[in-house]
Amino acid sequence: MTSQKNPDSKTEKIPKRALRVLSGTKPTGENLHLGNYFGALRQFVALQEEHDTALYFIADYHAMTTVKNGPERRHNTLAVALDYLAAGLDPERAILFRQSDLPEVCELTWMLTTVTPMGMLERAHAYKAAMDKGEDIEHGVFTYPVLMAADILLYGSHLVPVGRDQKQHIEMARDMAQRFNRVYETDALVLPEPYILDDTAVVPGTDGQKMSKSYGNTIPMFGSKGKLKKSVMGIVTDSTPVEDPKDTNQAVFELWSLFASDSEREEMYARAAAGGLGYGDVKKDLLARLMDYFEPMRARRTEFERNPDDVEAILRAGAERARELAMPVLAACREAAGLGEPQH
Ligand code: TRP
Repeated sequence: MTSQKNPDSKTEKIPKRALRVLSGTKPTGENLHLGNYFGALRQFVALQEEHDTALYFIADYHAMTTVKNGPERRHNTLAVALDYLAAGLDPERAILFRQSDLPEVCELTWMLTTVTPMGMLERAHAYKAAMDKGEDIEHGVFTYPVLMAADILLYGSHLVPVGRDQKQHIEMARDMAQRFNRVYETDALVLPEPYILDDTAVVPGTDGQKMSKSYGNTIPMFGSKGKLKKSVMGIVTDSTPVEDPKDTNQAVFELWSLFASDSEREEMYARAAAGGLGYGDVKKDLLARLMDYFEPMRARRTEFERNPDDVEAILRAGAERARELAMPVLAACREAAGLGEPQH
C-alpha cells in the first residue's frame, strides 16, 4: 500500500542517501546569530548534499502557541525562509515549505492524538516547565508534541536533525508511530530517529557562555557593520598584558577559529603562546573575517528580500513536492484506520 517498509525502523539498512531528512523551525521573529548558524543552519545545508530528500519547513502552526498576531506571523515566516535561502538552502536540492501549506498535517495530528496517552504528553519537558511556572496553559501547548510528531511522520522521515532539547519530541514521535502501526496493524508510519546536531563546537557568546538570545551575548549573522563591531569589540577577555602568553581557551579565540583554517589556527595559537599578541588585533581580524564570511549570504538575503514573489514561488513548489511525499502516507493511515472511501 505504501512504499514505506520500515516496521522496526532499521534505518541502518537503508543506504544513507535514501534516508529522508526533515526538520522544522518555529518562526519566532528572532534574528539569527552565529550560534544558530553553526549549531543548525550550516548543518541543514550540509545534509541537503548528503541525502536525496531533505525537507525543511517553517513551523507556523507551532508558532501559534506563542505569537498571537497574524501579520507578525507572516512576517516571521518569510524571515525564516529568507534566512534559510540566504544560508545556502538550495530549493533544487532541499524541499523548503511552509507547514500550514499542508493542512493535512492537522488530520494526522488528530489520528495520532487518539493513540497518545495523556501520560506521555504530561512528561514532555516543555509542558512540565510551563506547568512549573504556574502558567495558564493552552491546549495547543499540551498537544504541541503531537503536531510535531505529525510533521515528522507525514513525510516518512527517517532522520530528524535537531538540537538536544528536541530529542524527547522525536522519541515521542517514534512512540506514537509505533502505537499507530500496532493498533491498526499497518506499517504506514516510519519510525524516525533523532539526529542530534553537533554542538560540540559550541559557539561561545561574547561573555564566554554558550551563545544564546536569552543570555544577551549573541553576535548577529546579518547585523550591520556597526552592530557587529560593537559585539565583537565587546567580547570578554582576561587581563593578560599584551606581552604575555595568552590562554586560547577563551571566547575570542574560539570565535575566531570558526572562520579560520586549521593551519591558520595553529599559527594564531602559536602566536598566542609566544606572547606579544593583543586581543584587540584578534578582534579586528575576527570582525573582518566575519564580515567576509557572511557577505555573500547577506547579499543573497537582500536579493530575495527584494523579490518576495520568488520566495513565495519557492515555498509553493516546496509544498507541492512535500504533498507528493505526504499523500501516500496519509492515504495509508486513513485506509488502515478505516476512514473515508475504501481504497479498493
Ligand atoms: N519544536 C521545534 C523547535 O521548537 C520545531 C519543530 C516543529 C520541529 N516541528 C518539527 C523540528 C518537526 C523538527 C521536526 O525547535
